[in-house]
Amino acid sequence: KKVMRQTNYQRFVFPYFVRQDAETIHKRTLNALAFAQQMALGRTVLRKLAGELPQRPSIQLFNLTFPNVIGMAAGFDKDVRVAEGLALLGFGHIEVGTLTPRPQVGNPRPRIFRLPDDGAIINRMGFPNDGVANALPRLKALSQIEREFVLGVSLGKHKETPLVNAVVDYLTVMTAVYPYADYLAVNISSPNTPGLRELQGGDYLGNLLGILQDENVRLAQKHGMQKRPLLVKIAPDLTTTELDTILQTIRDIHIDGIIAANTTLSREGLTDTNRFEQGGMSGRPLAQRATEIIHKISRLTKGNLPIIGVGGIRTAADVQEKLNAGATLVQLYTGLVYEGPGVVGNILRELTYNSLV
Ligand code: FNR
Repeated sequence: KKVMRQTNYQRFVFPYFVRQDAETIHKRTLNALAFAQQMALGRTVLRKLAGELPQRPSIQLFNLTFPNVIGMAAGFDKDVRVAEGLALLGFGHIEVGTLTPRPQVGNPRPRIFRLPDDGAIINRMGFPNDGVANALPRLKALSQIEREFVLGVSLGKHKETPLVNAVVDYLTVMTAVYPYADYLAVNISSPNTPGLRELQGGDYLGNLLGILQDENVRLAQKHGMQKRPLLVKIAPDLTTTELDTILQTIRDIHIDGIIAANTTLSREGLTDTNRFEQGGMSGRPLAQRATEIIHKISRLTKGNLPIIGVGGIRTAADVQEKLNAGATLVQLYTGLVYEGPGVVGNILRELTYNSLV
């Protein structure tokens, strides 16, 4: 029988963290990672926290080499400050952003809430970020170093940009980051930017993705590069009909892949007192819903559309469920909060041990 052992992080660190404002802890974590990644000793500490990482067969996808299956989901490193630190913790790819054309403050704080009883988080950040121009020097620097990890950039729109003009925002961010991003993720699924998820609807989506894909061709020519893989990140709350329409559009426009899924508006199965906070819910209670939509996508596309599976991943078994449902890669965010900095190493070692991937 398997005994669930708590990690030192869960015994000694999380109980201290959880008594303080979540975003304050997030900021301190970013500062610590940024500090550690820039010096030899700090890098050694991060490697040590990850533990030995299996030298497993890497994953070839979109003409990119992913060193392992686990990536950091968008929203953790919004301003491209800690990608190297996250890679040292074992993440094989990092999706930075979501970035908007100009700096944006987001919603009033507090806007991140932990639900420890449920292993969940509710957030209503609303894309606070320093704007794409401020991130560029760091993106450029990352494109110039020798690195194994894959760098994705999540593209977003401003809160006040009307949906009919949304394409301009996405184009602005895409154009700026184009030479430095290994892949581009079109985020049309955050519940915290009013109306954003309407872009998933047939009327808007074909137009938006068509223009972005045309620009993809143009920018590739301009920079003398390969076209960038263009992915779409969807909500887990879509009906089958809505999903069907999206997949049809994705096929028509030759979108390279889908990221499923963003946070949910559902509060099903929650018990924590924070469950009535507004925002998108992530973490364990999202896992099954996310797996189901991955499974649906895989079935509807006959396995022909690459899927990055996201939602509630904390263990090797969680990863395996996403892969079994049809994902080629996975990402996590909330799992890091509840499991601590060893989470990626622990999962990768267990996957290898069980020869699961
Ligand atoms: C997110 N997520 C997110 N997604 C995105 O595409 N752009 C973003 O800016 C953010 N921001 C963000 C902030 C916070 C505080 C959280 C918790 C989440 C969603 C995230 O990338 C992921 O899709 C979900 O959190 C589900 O995965 P986990 O957290 O259950 O592993």
